[in-house]
Amino acid sequence: MCGIVGYIGLPEKTSQHGALDVLLEGLRRLEYRGYDSAGVATVASGTVSMRKKSGKLANLLSEIEAEPMTEASVGIGHTRWATHGAPNDLNAHPHLADGDKLAVIHNGIIENFAQLKAKLVSTGETFASETDTEVAAKLIAQHFTATGGDLTEAMRLAANQLEGAFTLLAVHADQPDRVVASRRNSPLVVGLGDGENFLGSDVSGFIDFTREAVELEQDQVVTITTDDVAIINFDGSPAEGKRFSVNWDAAAAEKGGFGTFMEKEIHDQPKAVEDTLLGRTDASGRLVLDELRIDPEELKNISKIIVLACGTSAYAGMVAKYAIEHWVRVPVEVELSHEFRYRDPIIDDSTLIVSLSQSGETMDTLMAVRYAKEQGARTLAICNTNGSTIPRESDAVLYTHAGPEIAVASTKAFLAQITASYLLGLYMAQLRGKLFQGEIDDILADLHKIPGKIQEVLDGGEQIRELAREMAQAPSVLFLGRHVGYPVAMEGALKLKEIAYIHAEGFAAGELKHGPIALIDQGQPVFVVVPSPHGRDSLHAKVVSNIQEVRARGAKTITVAEAGDADVVDYSEQVFYVPETQPLLMPLLTTVPLQIFACALAAEKGYDVDQPRNLAKSVTVE
Ligand code: M6R
Repeated sequence: MCGIVGYIGLPEKTSQHGALDVLLEGLRRLEYRGYDSAGVATVASGTVSMRKKSGKLANLLSEIEAEPMTEASVGIGHTRWATHGAPNDLNAHPHLADGDKLAVIHNGIIENFAQLKAKLVSTGETFASETDTEVAAKLIAQHFTATGGDLTEAMRLAANQLEGAFTLLAVHADQPDRVVASRRNSPLVVGLGDGENFLGSDVSGFIDFTREAVELEQDQVVTITTDDVAIINFDGSPAEGKRFSVNWDAAAAEKGGFGTFMEKEIHDQPKAVEDTLLGRTDASGRLVLDELRIDPEELKNISKIIVLACGTSAYAGMVAKYAIEHWVRVPVEVELSHEFRYRDPIIDDSTLIVSLSQSGETMDTLMAVRYAKEQGARTLAICNTNGSTIPRESDAVLYTHAGPEIAVASTKAFLAQITASYLLGLYMAQLRGKLFQGEIDDILADLHKIPGKIQEVLDGGEQIRELAREMAQAPSVLFLGRHVGYPVAMEGALKLKEIAYIHAEGFAAGELKHGPIALIDQGQPVFVVVPSPHGRDSLHAKVVSNIQEVRARGAKTITVAEAGDADVVDYSEQVFYVPETQPLLMPLLTTVPLQIFACALAAEKGYDVDQPRNLAKSVTVE
């Protein structure tokens, strides 16, 4: 939540693209992290210039156009997801202090801000905004004066007074040769240039300018100048960052000819699955998951797996449960990260915690992983963002290779997470001798056919888009599924809620008769995710009965079924067929029509598909 960018360059470097251009380009790419307001501050000729505006970045751009800023080679920029204070101009970042010579931006929540503010007020400080950030700005300003004008030390001293989660960036007119930042429980990466350096909430903040980056650890302060990156810990001791190269380029984070990022990312899915499968076997076809830094012996002795995740990632976790339990014969629990650590869970060193997170920064999941580690569990992250906090703090990581996901509504990351979970399950089954090599080979071969099959679903997308246009006025849509179709149903409902603002619920089809069937009225649209007729027969037959039950009560039934499934035709207003695959792999196909449906319906209603109201891409607050 909140996108943060910082830049410093030699004047001749900056003249190539302009500091303001670098900041605004970074904000454009980071806007998915929050879009309640945006702002920038630059330092030139001994003064700080600032522009900030509520609403999307476009409002800030108009503001700057109306009142241009002077040329500068150092500055900071912010795009906000509001926590403290309404999303208005006043609460927008940056916040100024020290006679407007210091500008500060912030991501996170400063939990002790009220106490700190009360103290500052008692010493005569006044505040212009309702934010916790302004408290940090005042503290940095006080320390700046006390240290005789040392912004790095001022930042370090202030950071030590703060509790909670924060990334702070500051520039000061009296020390214009640097941008200083600190981080605790909130993301920050450094971009390395030649005669220029960058800061960003994630690498997309500077991907247009460099792909060389440095990860920071917890509780560190970093000072970037034109030719140096200096890192210290909060206790003042020197530290080294870990260097890495970003393995995707700026073009991967563009819309590629599609109207929205979400559409583009839905169409990226064949590649996301293919890339996630890439290079996972040795010459003899055996799975080798190189990034897994957990000793295979330990994985053999795991007695229970707990999957932790939120939102869409949690639905991927539910699919993982069905597959891993079936293949590995180890119990798997799936739990929302924010519920997990408040219920005194039973964990020990034979428990494997598998966290699923696209961003790798979701605070609820990070806190749950930390808690599980403290209790002695082994932790493995399935993550899409290289160098992010959750994989860094986990014992092992299995990266998904979906590429950057910009739209707030997760699509390709979901399919990539499911794919990686399958790989983990098959790897554990291989290690523990629970499946014959031939069985693993067959499943892998079918997995490798999935990208082509997703493409077939995408190619037939117009039928779904047409239905979405017809249904744009539906006040409520229900989704039903059984077995692996159940999490798919919930994911279909979540997509519709978050981008089309339509009331939607996903139910286990068997649960219907225990209450939800009372919701069915004449014309109520119900999507049903139908299991393969080639799986357990009883499962398919039961879902067909469920379709009949809702239809008999007036529902408009829309089914997503396997190609050739004739049993659903008589009971469906419309059928969307997906190609045949193994029953456990079906979510990789049945999810796609539901994503297309939600995306098209939101577009039909004229909503901002990529940046839905009230949401942000990375939820870095608890
Ligand atoms: O980055 P993560 O995968 O940890 O994010 C988890 C959820 O916040 C995320 O999946 C959210 O539910 C999406 N907006 C759903 O489309």
